Parts: sequence; C-alpha cells; structure tokens
Amino acid sequence: MQARRHLSAALLLAVLAVLAPAPGPVSAAGDPHRLFEARCGRCHAHAGGLARERLGVAAGTHLVGRQSGEDIAVFLAGHYGRLTDAEIALLVDLFRFQVLAEGKFRAKCAICHGRARDLARAFLALRDGRLVGRYTGRDVAGFLAGHGRVEPAELPVFLEALTRAVPGDP
Ligand code: HEC
Ligand code: HEC
Repeated sequence: MQARRHLSAALLLAVLAVLAPAPGPVSAAGDPHRLFEARCGRCHAHAGGLARERLGVAAGTHLVGRQSGEDIAVFLAGHYGRLTDAEIALLVDLFRFQVLAEGKFRAKCAICHGRARDLARAFLALRDGRLVGRYTGRDVAGFLAGHGRVEPAELPVFLEALTRAVPGDP
C-alpha cells in the first residue's frame, strides 16, 4: 500500500515536470518571441523583420529562406542557435504567421498605413490585454470589423499581428 502511494506520488511529480514550463530565462515552452530573442537576437534584430526580409513562400505554403532556397525547418536545423525540433517548430509557426500577416497587411492596409509595425507603434496600445487606439480609445477588434474590407476570417490575423507589434507586448 505504502509502496503504491509512493509510486503514484512519483508519477504525479513526473507528469507535473512534463507539464510545467521549462525553468530558466529561456522558456521555450510556448513563447517563440523569447526564444528568438535568446537564440537569434544577437545576430537578427527582430523576428518580424527577419521574416519580411529573408523568408519567402514556395509552392503556395512552403516557407523557405530567400537566399538558400531551403525549407526553413531544414535550414534552421543546420543554422546557429542549436534548436531542438520542438523549438524549430515553434519558430516556424511564428514565421509562417508573420509572412501570412505581412502579405495580408500589404494587400489591404499598407496603401494607407504603411507598415503594420509603424501603425501599431504610433497609434495603438494595449489596455488590459485589449488592443485600443492610443488616442481614439477605440476598441480595435470592433473597429476593424467594419474597416479596410477586413473579412471575418482575417480579423484574428490582423488583430494578432497588430497586437504583437505594439511595443511592450509581453
Ligand atoms: C551568430 C550569428 C547568428 C545567429 C545566432 C543566428 N543567425 Fe541566422 N543568419 C546569420 C548569418 C550570418 C546569415 C546569412 C546572412 C547573409 O548571408 O547575409 C543568417 C541567415 C539566416 C536566415 C536566412 C536564410 C536564407 O536562406 O535566406 C534565416 C531565416 C535565419 N538566419 C534565421 C535564424 C534564426 C531563426 C536564428 C535563431 C535560432 C538565427 N538565424 C541565429 C547569423 C546568425
Ligand atoms: C483607404 C485607406 C485605409 C485603408 C485601406 C485602411 N485604413 Fe485603417 N484607417 C484609415 C484612416 C483614415 C483611419 C483613421 C480613421 C479615424 O480615426 O476615424 C484609420 C484607422 C485605423 C485604425 C484605428 C487607429 C486609431 O487610432 O484608432 C486601425 C487599427 C486601422 N485603421 C487598421 C487598418 C487595417 C488593419 C487595415 C487593413 C485591413 C486598414 N486599416 C486599412 C485608412 C485606411
């Protein structure tokens, strides 16, 4: 009985250890921006800029390095940063999102707003986790539903991209 209780306590601890975020300053668990800053930031200033300048899409969905022409996951496995497969997957997801959002913003918003980052930095802010107009106080999610020919399916992409671009975004 006693042994069994010990065993289940050990199992519980093992499960908790797996579920808990990795300790230390580089919590790869879930935050690709921190991961990028820690492992790539020394040589590449900003994940968004890197995606914009150095990544392209081949065959519709395939993210590749512009210079190497290589699949980005393959490229990263042999590049600086000593990433694990899980960390590569995390960064590839981030880059894919950034390339998608960038393309959409360029197509629908850039003609009036220039770059998403500039719009976010100059005019937007986060209040209680909500994206708002810095000077207008307007709720951007509600506003965008009727602005810039945004389709309902695209709304989360624009919202997330602008939210991420607000300075001080965690
Ligand atoms: C020690 C510096 C250094 C670090 C750290 C580093 N890189 Fe690079 N990276 C480079 C250099 C140098 C190039 C090639 C640039 C050139 O040729 O102009 C490059 C190129 C790239 C490219 C372009 C590939 C292409 O085919 O065009 C990508 C994408 C990239 N790095 C992503 C990353 C990511 C993600 C990380 C972090 C995991 C990272 N790098 C860490 C130095 C670094
Ligand atoms: C034809 C020009 C035009 C296009 C295209 C356009 N906007 Fe705007 N946008 C404006 C103008 C003008 C304002 C200011 C309106 C106001 O304050 O009433 C504005 C305001 C905004 C605001 C609110 C800023 C604040 O201070 O409250 C956001 C956010 C925004 N636009 C995002 C977008 C996004 C995202 C797209 C693309 C999907 C887009 N806009 C497309 C002209 C445009």
